[in-house]
Amino acid sequence: MNDIEAIMNGWDGEEVILHFDRPSGAWFIIAIHSTRLGPAVGGTRLRHYGSLAEAVEDALRLARAMTYKFAVADFPRGGGKAVIAVPEPFEEGTREDLIRRYGLLLGRLGDLFTTGPDVGTSSSDMNLIFDVAPGRAFSRTIDHGGRGSSGPPTARGVLASIEAACEVILDRSTLQGISVLVQGAGNVGGALIELLQERGAAVCFTDVDAKTIGQWTSRGLEFVPPQEAYARECDVFSPCGLSGVLNRNTIPRLRCRIVAGAANSQLAEEADAKRLKASGIAYVPDFVANGGGAIAITGMEALEWSPEEAERHVRALGNVARNVLRMAARDDISTHEAAVRLAEQRLGMR
Ligand code: PHE
Repeated sequence: MNDIEAIMNGWDGEEVILHFDRPSGAWFIIAIHSTRLGPAVGGTRLRHYGSLAEAVEDALRLARAMTYKFAVADFPRGGGKAVIAVPEPFEEGTREDLIRRYGLLLGRLGDLFTTGPDVGTSSSDMNLIFDVAPGRAFSRTIDHGGRGSSGPPTARGVLASIEAACEVILDRSTLQGISVLVQGAGNVGGALIELLQERGAAVCFTDVDAKTIGQWTSRGLEFVPPQEAYARECDVFSPCGLSGVLNRNTIPRLRCRIVAGAANSQLAEEADAKRLKASGIAYVPDFVANGGGAIAITGMEALEWSPEEAERHVRALGNVARNVLRMAARDDISTHEAAVRLAEQRLGMR
């Protein structure tokens, strides 16, 4: 059995479309994890992978996370995810045609999957997809009839989770003076930094991109070098960049009380949830903290929510985080396990 077969067989989702794009040599991978709660929605990630198997694995894992993200928030959509795995080097000049061909594929699949932006894609890519496949892309720019970037509502959901955790764990009702290290000051992390500062938190950040680092240090924000970030003493560590940052190597170094951030797939493996618990660190599961963007944008564009209604749902993620933290303490289980139980009850799996 080859890698891809093994990965597919080890996955509990519904279907996968694997499409080879001859003109670019890219692969389009569309993973539909579950339509139990509604039609599948998820971001499209565009990047280079070391192998097709790695790209498939990423798509499958991220699609599953979308199912749990929507279920735990009681949102009537199913989980899916797409990956556009491009060869290296990727010519930005070929991007528009590539995205259009990808959009045509989504159009041919009908309402099986509707997408939004993710790592490597943006609202302007969603405009292109929508033009060739009407209805199949959320989060278009405002001048194109969409609700714009999902970054800000995602950041507001993370903020609600951080506030909930500070209340439950630190018995603090405001973020005044709470120290937070934001890992990854991009689209979501950057918006989060501003929200935290407005609330009087003591924020510092880490990043690997020279331009992003310069942007924030020139505004007076303290930069922590990436290799020192995990061991930095703080109240809240907020991963808003890469996947797999919570693992057997990093967890023993953490000097924080709470982990709550926007990155998808923060745990390298399930055992890391137990490692966090054993270290006495309160972890708000990624799929609880980071649902705000997908939920707010999809709610407004597909369910006719007003911006106020969308904001109520984003804030409600704080209640979910609170429930998960309390349930984990009560049942002496990891917060990840608690959130999985909540989601699986909604999915009718328990
Ligand atoms: N990147 C979003 C997520 O992971 C995907 C998304 C954005 C879906 C906007 C719909 C609308 O949740």
